[in-house]
Amino acid sequence: MNGGRIYLGRALTHQPNPLAVPLGGRLLTVWPYQQVPHALIVGATGGGKTTLLRVMATDLARSPGRRAVVLCDGKGAGSFLMFDGLAGVVLTNGTTETAEAVSAAHQEMTRRFTTREQARQQATATRARAAWTPPDELHLWIDEYLAWMLDLPDSDSELGRKHQVRFLVRIGQLGREVGVHLLLATQRPDARSIDVGLPGNLKAQLRCRIAASGLMGLDSIESRMAFDDPDAGERVPVELGGALIQVGRHEVGFRVPWLADPTDPETSDTDRQAAWALLPPRLDPTVAPQAEPSRNGGQAGGPAGGQAGARSPAAGRAADPTPFGGGRASPHSEDGTKDPADNGGGQP
Ligand SMILES: Nc1ncnc2c1ncn2[C@@H]1O[C@H](COP(=O)(O)OP(=O)(O)O)[C@@H](O)[C@H]1O
Ligand SMILES: [Mg+2]
Repeated sequence: MNGGRIYLGRALTHQPNPLAVPLGGRLLTVWPYQQVPHALIVGATGGGKTTLLRVMATDLARSPGRRAVVLCDGKGAGSFLMFDGLAGVVLTNGTTETAEAVSAAHQEMTRRFTTREQARQQATATRARAAWTPPDELHLWIDEYLAWMLDLPDSDSELGRKHQVRFLVRIGQLGREVGVHLLLATQRPDARSIDVGLPGNLKAQLRCRIAASGLMGLDSIESRMAFDDPDAGERVPVELGGALIQVGRHEVGFRVPWLADPTDPETSDTDRQAAWALLPPRLDPTVAPQAEPSRNGGQAGGPAGGQAGARSPAAGRAADPTPFGGGRASPHSEDGTKDPADNGGGQP
């Protein structure tokens, strides 16, 4: 997709708006991250949050341009392993690696502000143009946010809960100006986690709200968590892949296309081939895929430290008429989405 937007699925509306854009005769639901820099995804376990993140990451991986995408699995389930080795992608798995990635992203954001400030001071001194080029986009996405939060040590260290929340709040407040985007995906808090959940000053920064609840639907607590409205759940389509996005006064129900995890041993052959076919080639195609969840890490020089490599020519998908289209083997129909009912098997 791009133009500062990430594809989420087929819009279940006929009214175009900033969240439902026409493409190939269809309305596609998008997160316009250039305008609305940070997002929150809420839904019960099994609702389709991770599937939606995989669809979104696939869209970014196929989009032209340079960027760094840090995909964090807070529970350490290796959910994003399929993206390992792609240009600009960094994976973290589990509590500590995710906390290190958050620290590194915060550090990178601070570095970008410092560099920009220096350029402006130099421009003041010389009365010339500030020598500062906007840096590559840096996306920091954390799946299983609450589980990760709860697992963080309650210590005063940089990798402890207090500092991690502070880093995220600062990224939420300042990230946009220097191209840093934050996305948190989570289930609702239970009684134990309410105190350490999602602080109001962090949630307020996540202005793109998405419910990915699928067949489970959205209960009133989840609905309040996602939309600050206990009744919004009634407007979420209750079907496989059913989801709702809200930004300010705009709201669109949509359907997330099915995209299997091709690294899951239970995924069917058809689904696996379709998923691999959507991704650009690995940077190191000769390296055998790892058996273990990636330790690619957010460490070495920070997530943006040279990670946003230029895409190989074969990876350019700019000519695709629709997200995930272009006549390639695809789990989606010709319009770029696929009804979950006609997936290639492997669905419960
Ligand atoms: N868009 C979709 N289309 C069809 N089935 C889906 C879709 N999203 C999720 N599912 C089904 O729901 C299951 C759980 O999805 P998942 O994304 O892991 O949910 P969560 O991360 O919210 O727990 C998937 O394994 C799949 O069977
Ligand atoms: Mg999940």
